[in-house]
Amino acid sequence: MNFQGLIDTAKMLLAGDRGLLAMDESNLTCNKRFSTLGIPPTEEARRAYRELIVTTPGLGDFISGAILFDETIRQHKKDGTLFVKTITDAAIIPGIKVDAGAKDMAAHPGEKITEGLDGLRDRLSEYSKMGARFAKWRAVIAMDNDLPSRGCIEANAQSLARYAALCQEAGLVPIVEPEVLMSGEHTLERCCEVTEEVLRTVFKQLYTQRVALEGMILKPNMVLSGLACPKQAGVDEVVEATMRCLFRSVPAAVPGIAFLSGGQSGELASVRLNAMNTRFKSRLPWTLSFSFARAIQQPALEIWRGEEAHVKAAQQALYHRAKCNWAARRGEYNTEMDRP
Ligand code: 13P
Repeated sequence: MNFQGLIDTAKMLLAGDRGLLAMDESNLTCNKRFSTLGIPPTEEARRAYRELIVTTPGLGDFISGAILFDETIRQHKKDGTLFVKTITDAAIIPGIKVDAGAKDMAAHPGEKITEGLDGLRDRLSEYSKMGARFAKWRAVIAMDNDLPSRGCIEANAQSLARYAALCQEAGLVPIVEPEVLMSGEHTLERCCEVTEEVLRTVFKQLYTQRVALEGMILKPNMVLSGLACPKQAGVDEVVEATMRCLFRSVPAAVPGIAFLSGGQSGELASVRLNAMNTRFKSRLPWTLSFSFARAIQQPALEIWRGEEAHVKAAQQALYHRAKCNWAARRGEYNTEMDRP
């Protein structure tokens, strides 16, 4: 294992207040998001949309790494240039989602286990040859009165750790993503409790599987009230609960934490990330960054709607959200940036 190489890549992904752009939606998820906007669910539409993203002028000012999907890493611009070359030329490091999706977990009604370990060593070697320098695996934890079960947490944590070890063996920095979902009626306190249990279990497994914490990035959820909870926590409460949970469960050897957005609006995700960096930066052992999909892409997708004539405006919206999150890392975001 090239330990120093992993540390260097992780550092580059976290440097300059830039963050990660997740553009690795599976075909199914991408098509679902397209269909709500009347965009055809075709390979060409997905290619055109990803071309819009990777050719956004100046995106590399705010984005250090882009997570691609298997289809996307093989695709190219209309002029034949591979997307991987386009983003590398824009000073953005290419990454790749390598899990095979969250599937129903046997004997655990309502819970999911992420698959994709079979053949992973060979796939990582192929992606590395294609230019990927980091990878992502997402585990999904659902919550209600009785969930999550220990079985679900432990199985997902072990898969994340086995994936991370294989990534490091192949020279790729693993992004370790245990996502506790926002959906449900749970309170902020319950989300905090479950997220802490999940993170503690994940780090125990990472240790057991001999993953070098210095050469990985954690991608957790923020601690939030469930979407259907009648009492929605304010920004200060969210920031305090999220930081309390992370301080308790994430070792200082981890270089960075890059949040997922999980369905928060772009503005709220920026407000919360900004508040964490403003209030806690001097006490943080790790960098607090972002690895958003919807909270960066959604406005751009809604403007584009599959129309060539809207590409420029969509790129401006994408650039703007990337810039807002860069500012949030610096503690310089304010909602005025989102007023016309
Ligand atoms: P969201 O920011 O839309 O939650 O997506 C992040 C991600 O990569 C999910 O795996």
